[in-house]
Amino acid sequence: MATSDSNPTAAGDLRKFLEELQDENDLLVISQEIDPEMELAAITRRVYETEEKAVLFENITGRQGNGLFRVLGAPVGLSRVPGQRLGRVAKSLGLPSNASGKEIIDKINSAKSLQPLVPKEVSTGPVKECKLFGDDIDLKSLPTPLLHQHDGGKFLETFGMHIVQTPDGSWTNWSITRGMVHDKRRLVGPIIPKQDIGVIYQMWKDKGQDMPWALCFGVPPAAIMVGGMPIPKWTDEAGFIGALVGSPLEVVKCETNDLRVPANAEFVFEGTVSITETAPEGPMMEYHGHVWPNQSKPCPLFKVNAITYRKDPILPICITGRATEESHTVWALTIAAEVLNICQSAGLPIKNAWCPFESHAIWYVLQVDRKNLVGMKTSMPEFCTKLGHVVFGSKPGWYMGKVFLVGEDVDPSDLRDVIWAESTRCEPGTSEFLFDEYGTIPLIPYVGHGTKPVGNHKKVVKCCMLPSEFEDEELSWKVGSFRGSYPPDVQAKVERDWLKYGFDRL
Ligand SMILES: Cc1cc2nc3c(=O)[nH]c(=O)nc-3n(C[C@H](O)[C@H](O)[C@H](O)COP(=O)(O)O)c2cc1C
Repeated sequence: MATSDSNPTAAGDLRKFLEELQDENDLLVISQEIDPEMELAAITRRVYETEEKAVLFENITGRQGNGLFRVLGAPVGLSRVPGQRLGRVAKSLGLPSNASGKEIIDKINSAKSLQPLVPKEVSTGPVKECKLFGDDIDLKSLPTPLLHQHDGGKFLETFGMHIVQTPDGSWTNWSITRGMVHDKRRLVGPIIPKQDIGVIYQMWKDKGQDMPWALCFGVPPAAIMVGGMPIPKWTDEAGFIGALVGSPLEVVKCETNDLRVPANAEFVFEGTVSITETAPEGPMMEYHGHVWPNQSKPCPLFKVNAITYRKDPILPICITGRATEESHTVWALTIAAEVLNICQSAGLPIKNAWCPFESHAIWYVLQVDRKNLVGMKTSMPEFCTKLGHVVFGSKPGWYMGKVFLVGEDVDPSDLRDVIWAESTRCEPGTSEFLFDEYGTIPLIPYVGHGTKPVGNHKKVVKCCMLPSEFEDEELSWKVGSFRGSYPPDVQAKVERDWLKYGFDRL
């Protein structure tokens, strides 16, 4: 009988991922009892804000024996290990822990040109070790952490992956969207019509049937990265992930419906999403670090008919708020990767893309390929107008508020570089190009809680390049810095003798 992969990789298996984090001194296992009512979340928040080790809580007040569940905080937070700040992102994608931002973006996009690897169906796997059905399920009895004091409830689902399929079975979508415990058997959560889960949900509504659904926690790290990525509609995420990690994912059939779930997931909820019943949901602290207390909204109910889980299962969580958490390291980075793809497919000379984490998934920095730009014989207004329509008119463009266009002497993943370029080269008004043809996600505070415009809220392309950069291949200026202001031999000598001068670190 086929079971799960005997030689797992960190990108393909959460337990292997944790083992490697521990070897790299980037995981703390806490076995003392921790209160899920807020202590657990407060520890994890502090971990994000200090870029501390990911944290595995093994002993949560209220947990029954070795059952549901242990909790993993900051699964894809930033790391303090020297040279490995993006280590957890890199490892999730099968890259070495010291990979750069550019290598991460390029790795995500490399899978675009590969043949999708269709998942391999196996007859069982670790996720089938334990099973609960029907009225034996009591979501209220689980030690679900309260994530923030102003949340409207307990969000069990913050970093799990929903699986839904069109009624004709031709398209399966894997994605992340939050879910709050409603009662013993039901979660409640938003389904945004613009997202793929919303498109598929509408098909089931049109058919007049509740939507079969699975929610998988502790899936392969590469799968959760792609679950948060706005890839084009009708793409099969499972095949894309297989191509990304270089081997097909192993999936296993659900007990109560025909959906297939990762065989090595930590635990899976199976059930249906009601097309008629809603309940108040939220609020929950958002990815931009604001919450408006007491503002709940009616959202669909997700009924759980079965839970399957492996022994000692792990619930990964994302505690949204001020940067840097997984909304930024997973969602914003995969948006940046997808926007780079879209620009390149449209024939625009863009060579790199990034979302500075401090912008909370709202600024996107695009770097031009200057040789090709100059070859286009274009001007700043013409190019920026074209770029804005391509980017803001795309699927990920809906999430984006502000685009910064930078030249090749600016590293998009270095915020100091971006601020330097914006402040010195972007002239208010003249180098800013506004777009009001396209909508923007209302969660951005200046959209949902700002001044109401006539028509749509505006988006902007801020050109952080001088007009001459569109015309001349050679830059007309020199940069005042260690690298820019001294010849290579002087730089080399200073670097070589740095400790000899008396400085205590390189
Ligand atoms: C940690 C994390 C949490 C997220 N939470 C939500 C959420 O609660 N609601 C939502 O609409 N999208 C959320 N997203 C974003 C979606 O997963 C993302 O936009 C995804 O691309 C949507 O799927 P689609 O491409 O299938 O439309 C989250 C992403 C991440 C990484």
